[in-house]
Amino acid sequence: MNIAVIGATGLIGKPVTQQLIKAGFTVTILARHPEQIGTLFPSARVIEADLQKPDTILAGLQNQQMLYLNLSVRQNEKITDFHTETDGMKTILAAAKEAGIQRIGYLSSLVMRYQNMDGFHWWVFDIKEEAVRLLKASGISVSIFYPSTFMESFLMQIQGPLLALGGSSSIKLWFIAGQDYGQQVVRDFRLPGNESRDYVIQGPEAHTYDEAAHLFIKNYTKKKLYTLKAPVGILQFLGRFNRKMNYGGHILEAMNNYPERFEAERTWTVLGKPTTTLSEFARQQ
Ligand SMILES: NC(=O)c1ccc[n+]([C@@H]2O[C@H](COP(=O)([O-])OP(=O)(O)OC[C@H]3O[C@@H](n4cnc5c(N)ncnc54)[C@H](OP(=O)(O)O)[C@@H]3O)[C@@H](O)[C@H]2O)c1
Repeated sequence: MNIAVIGATGLIGKPVTQQLIKAGFTVTILARHPEQIGTLFPSARVIEADLQKPDTILAGLQNQQMLYLNLSVRQNEKITDFHTETDGMKTILAAAKEAGIQRIGYLSSLVMRYQNMDGFHWWVFDIKEEAVRLLKASGISVSIFYPSTFMESFLMQIQGPLLALGGSSSIKLWFIAGQDYGQQVVRDFRLPGNESRDYVIQGPEAHTYDEAAHLFIKNYTKKKLYTLKAPVGILQFLGRFNRKMNYGGHILEAMNNYPERFEAERTWTVLGKPTTTLSEFARQQ
């Protein structure tokens, strides 16, 4: 089965693409900078393509049956910028229709459900909602995945000897490893039928963020890490002057307050149960 991937170089795009390759799909990666991919995905075909250049996307989707999307709003993105998940999505859907793509898999987010709860509203979540709306209205069969927090997030929070954390919360999150999620994506693409499908993606264990950080540090063998905790209020204040801090303040507010509960039972029945614990994930790095 031929599958194209847009966003394979992303934090979560990598493990998913690796699982698609491992499962025997013929993978074509559409990337802005193919030269930077190097030996990351040795058996994949890599094509230069950019969502801001519609012709390159149409060319990259020729002879593909499936398409997987790992898109994001960058932390320094402005509301007036080009957004891959809305502006890019319109290009993708037009090209996918023309190229005869039969199913699109799209990585969304569970915490975006915090939009309009407790008076919270963030333009980034508007973009993510619009992406889902565009996909569902496209007429193409879609599989939309709504994951809890990825264990890979901890890797992005390491700064020298520090693991940066923001605020505190008693809410437990079902952390999921990118590799386990990738295996679920593989199973979904192998399912028969052309109906659209939605999945909540959660890992095998739930922890508060503080518990999870403790487990990660305890099992991370590359170097000794120490936590550095910034109050969310300070991030939000600094966020008035700095876009990355602004993003951090908003996502932490949503993650610390969205009342996540276990909802992945149906996903586990259909796509298999994830097995990687946070301790195992940390040891594997
Ligand atoms: N982290 C979590 O815990 C978590 C939890 C739930 C959901 N999610 C969701 O997961 C999604 C993916 O996150 P991520 O961290 O993997 O994202 P990411 O690292 O920012 O990856 C984004 C990808 O999009 C590509 N891209 C950007 N602009 C492009 C363009 N104009 N044309 C073609 N490709 C372009 C990038 O390629 P380049 O290499 O060219 O830049 C990159 O491969 C996000 O939507 C996030 O909301 C994350």
